[in-house]
Amino acid sequence: MLRGFNDSVDKTVREAEALAHRAAIVGAGHTRFGVLDAGPRALVRSAVESAFASVDKGAERQDVSEAFLATLGFGGSQIGNSAALLAEEAGVVGAPVTRVENACASGGFALRSAVGALSARASPLVLVVGVEKMTDVSNARRRYWLGVSGDTEWERLAGLTFAGVYGLIASRYFAEHGNASEALAEVAAKNHENGALNPNAHFQKRISRAEVLSAPRVADPLGLYDCCPVSDGAAALLLSPPDLAHRFTDSPVYLDGMGAGTDFLAVQERGKITSFRATQRAAHEAFRSAGWHRSDVSFLEVHDCFTIAELLALEDLGFAGPGEAPAMTLSGATRRDGRLPVNPDGGLKAKGHPIGATGVSQAYEIFLQLRGEAESRQVHHTGRALAQNVGGAGATAAVSLFSVG
Ligand code: COA
Repeated sequence: MLRGFNDSVDKTVREAEALAHRAAIVGAGHTRFGVLDAGPRALVRSAVESAFASVDKGAERQDVSEAFLATLGFGGSQIGNSAALLAEEAGVVGAPVTRVENACASGGFALRSAVGALSARASPLVLVVGVEKMTDVSNARRRYWLGVSGDTEWERLAGLTFAGVYGLIASRYFAEHGNASEALAEVAAKNHENGALNPNAHFQKRISRAEVLSAPRVADPLGLYDCCPVSDGAAALLLSPPDLAHRFTDSPVYLDGMGAGTDFLAVQERGKITSFRATQRAAHEAFRSAGWHRSDVSFLEVHDCFTIAELLALEDLGFAGPGEAPAMTLSGATRRDGRLPVNPDGGLKAKGHPIGATGVSQAYEIFLQLRGEAESRQVHHTGRALAQNVGGAGATAAVSLFSVG
């Protein structure tokens, strides 16, 4: 009698948990990021293999009912129908695969699409893969492909690069809030220090703030070390409905809230360039849908494509007021042992930024960190984390909230 009652309580608790959690990550894989010999097919294969290998109780290719591929298609080697490439290399030919392209935010939006697919259909497993091969093109083609995600008329054809746009944003930020060069240098030094502990990072070397400040200028006030590099790499996630997660692992990581937003493509169309409305909107929706407060979050993975972007992220996500991110950063709060660690994997700055892979890679890091598997770069946490993935100079953004237990 009592046993029957306990079973029914357990079932109700499980159902309530399943309602609170939208999806569970049960496996995650990653390649090294950097200048690699491997092409996109081999990168996809390797990330997917490591995702399957990470599933504690095992998972089969035939359990995957749907997949999503995040890629810009940098270099143009497989512009059309690259979803079929994923199906082949992941060993899921036959399953529907959708390619998601939202520039540097492709991974965050692919994750969002995967969660939507899980809610809409009774699928045991959905696969999300992000990949980009960027280093096998000439400098001229690299400039072209780095530019395609900006506004064509007013930015790309006018010769404005993303480093140029973020340089303008940083200059404007300095005009509004005072010179924040030292805080930008701290973002770079911190993220390189974290990257030095990440075996998958493109750069695994520490740099000092003085080195950042004296590096060659790329787009004033941003120098070489304020920029993310051009990297190859892939990452993969296996998602299941929350109530099936324990079939695959005893330590799933849950997705509790998601939000996304857009803004005008050309920065000149926006009322303000020192904050990203797409991020603000995405964060608002994510926190509302999860029912969380900012104080619930114990660490962040944010889109630091240029150091100024990490400061904007802290403010747009609601962890610092306007103009307060430099002081927060210089206080050490965002270091691995600080009050709110930011980018413990090295961020785009040091881990690298293979465009389509980045949003998926952020979730990979959170999967490791929340399960306590991040080894020497493990942060102290209360079990809740946030990822912010931005497309271009803030025209698209996705925010996701993760928890364990
Ligand atoms: N951070 C730190 N070191 C970097 C670096 C970066 N972002 N980019 C290159 N380096 C290093 C290289 O490893 C190399 O070091 P080495 O001489 O010890 O081997 C050296 O600097 C020169 O590398 P190179 O590839 O010739 O640099 P580059 O001048 O061609 O490119 C940037 C530098 C900053 C222009 C390039 O990395 C870039 O365009 N980054 C931005 C990418 C981007 O816009 N992505 C989309 C974001 S929205």
